[in-house]
Order: sequence, then C-alpha cells, then structure tokens
Amino acid sequence: MKIAVLGHGTVGSGVCKILSEENNKISSAAGKTVELGYILDIKEPENKYGSEIFTKDFSDILSDDEVGVVAECIGGIEPAYSYIKSALEKGKSAVTSNKELVAEKGAELLSIARAHNANFLFEASVGGGIPLIRPLYSSMNAAGITGISGILNGTTNYILTKMFRFGADYSEALSDAQKLGYAERDPSADVLGWDACRKIAILSSLVWGKTLKPSEIPTEGIENISADDVKTAEQCGFSIKLLARAKQLENGKIFAKVSPALIKNNSPLAAVNDVFNAVLINAKTTGEVLFYGKGAGKMPTASSVIADIIECAKTENNIGNIYWEDPEESVFAGSDSFAERYFIRADYDFSKIIPEAERISANAFLTPALTETEVSVLTDKISEHGKLLSKIPLFE
Ligand code: HSE
Repeated sequence: MKIAVLGHGTVGSGVCKILSEENNKISSAAGKTVELGYILDIKEPENKYGSEIFTKDFSDILSDDEVGVVAECIGGIEPAYSYIKSALEKGKSAVTSNKELVAEKGAELLSIARAHNANFLFEASVGGGIPLIRPLYSSMNAAGITGISGILNGTTNYILTKMFRFGADYSEALSDAQKLGYAERDPSADVLGWDACRKIAILSSLVWGKTLKPSEIPTEGIENISADDVKTAEQCGFSIKLLARAKQLENGKIFAKVSPALIKNNSPLAAVNDVFNAVLINAKTTGEVLFYGKGAGKMPTASSVIADIIECAKTENNIGNIYWEDPEESVFAGSDSFAERYFIRADYDFSKIIPEAERISANAFLTPALTETEVSVLTDKISEHGKLLSKIPLFE
C-alpha cells in the first residue's frame, strides 16, 4: 500500500523519515507492505527519497489506486480540507495532524469517511506524541467522562517555563520554540490560546459526541501573564499554566474555557514543563486518568501520524467507532454556567470590596466561586479605586 504525505514541513518530513527508516516495523504492524508513495508540496524538498515520488499535483495521488492512505501535514483549512475530502470520497483513508481542520470540519469529514468505508484519523492533532485520541474513544468509551483539563500547547508551556524558571525574555523563548519546530507558522495562534482552543474543541467533540465549535469557547492566551503574577503565585504554592478545560454539566451541555490558570503545586499538572503536555481526564468509572508526553515537535507528532497510518493500513476500511456530529443547537453551556475561584491582584488592598476573599499575600486574594459576569463586576469595582494587576482562575 502506498502512503501519500501531503506537506513536507516539520511534521511531514518527520513522517517521511519514520516511514522510510522504520519501514519493516510499520509493514509488519500493518500486516502488509506499506511504502512512501508520494510527497506533495509546493516546492520539491531536498530529500533522499527520489524525485519520482514528488508531486505538486494532488490528482496524481487521487488517481493512483495503490494509494491507500493520505497523510495530511499541511495545516490550515485549505487546501487540506479539499484534499482530504476528495481522498475520502474515493475510499482512501486520511490521517492528519491538523487541529484547525479537525476542530472545524471533523464531523463532516468523519461522516464522509463513514459513507465511503474509509478511515479519518487524527491522533497527531492533540497532544503531539501522546497516544490520546485512540485511548479516549476506545479504552475510555464507556468510562463516563465528565471533565477534561489539559495543558495542550507545547509552545506556551515552553515559553512559560523558560521565562519563569530560567529568566529568559519572552521573544527569546518564543524564538527558541520556533527554532525547535514547536510553534505554529503564525505563533499568535499559540500565544493567544487559539491552538489550545481548537484542541479542547476536538477532545470535547470526541468525548461527548457533538461538535463544540472553537468560536464558542472563551479563550485567553498568555500575553498578560507577568513575572510578578508567577512570583506571587509561586510564593503561595501555585504554578501558572495555560489550561484548556471542558466539563459536561448536569444538563448535558458543555462548559469550556481556555485561559491561564493557577494550579496547586501538588496537582500533577503543576509539574508539566517545557514542551510537555498533559491531559487529566475525570470519569465516573475510573476517577482521574492522566496522559503525559511531548505535545509538539517533529518526531513526537510524526510518531502519532505513523500510528494512524498503521491503523488505517491494518483495517483498510472504516474502523467505525470514532464519530461525532454537528448538533442542531449549540452544546456550549455559556460562559456563566460555571463558577470558580479567582486569584486577583491589585496595586492596593481591596479586601473591603470583597470581605469574603481569602488573602494569600499582601494585595493578592482568592475570591469565592464566581461566574464570568460576577468576576467582571468585581474587577470593574476594583479598577475604580486602583489598578487591577491580575485575574486568573484557580483550577481545583
Ligand atoms: N504549536 C503547537 C504547540 C504544535 O505548540 O503545541 C503542536 O500541535
């Protein structure tokens, strides 16, 4: 079976490398000979695979009946969406590392795959090299998952670690993350939280069976976190991480949010540093389950793409149980559907404004549980008398 790799960037080049170097193992795991059949890119990569497998024209791949799997590593919606859609419609399986595409078009592509007896798999789209998607939809399918909390972006976790543990400055840390192949082409997707937002949207849709749209999820990045926030938090026994969360509420709707969060140092998530990601699952049957590993970078992400290629080659036709649908009405419960405590810091003692808050250092307090609207009312009041320095939810 031929594999066509679309895009020879960071992830795609890693996929080609593993496909050629580990070919025997991959073929034996798949139960058939699997080979790198095509590399599609806008310009021919300097590589050792031979120019006869390079193409700029997707129709070469589509018309070759020996191609069983298309591995999309281009990123973005177009042309990735059109390529995958037409491959699936021809009964070829597709695997992807493209979180934007899966978050936006997952339900539609899964349905096309099902209709054409093909697979659409995306292990590499969330958590880089962590085996996460497959365990969630197979091993934990009936576990009664109620909550997902994750450090889902390697770049921001790397930046936060370098800045606050090793004193690097922001642009130096970001530039390192880019050199290491962690950051998106436009790194604002990492820093502003959009990448983590797309990933939690995928996990929520996968686990609860209905699309949660990224555009509905309140999303805040790391751009307002200061060294003073981190120092104060650390002195009080907390770490600050960019956290993506989704919970199923009693009414079946989903509360989700992406934001920096204060994490108690005794939580396993507090120890997740550098490019590592971790996803903490709460389920009725299992209690807490933790997934941990490298969340970005060429080889970890390529390894997950390869795992999907093997799965597709092994089964050839639809493996069936991974599926979700676009709902008739939104599954998002609204940003005020959940109350939580907040770490608030100002340049003055505001304890008179909120006497029930718990003082944790000079001008820093933990509020009682508040909704998004309630905390905004409070911070507006604080801002009337002085400068608000931080407002960060406490993860409990
Ligand atoms: N830019 C992403 C990250 C790549 O840093 O996590 C992996 O999805």
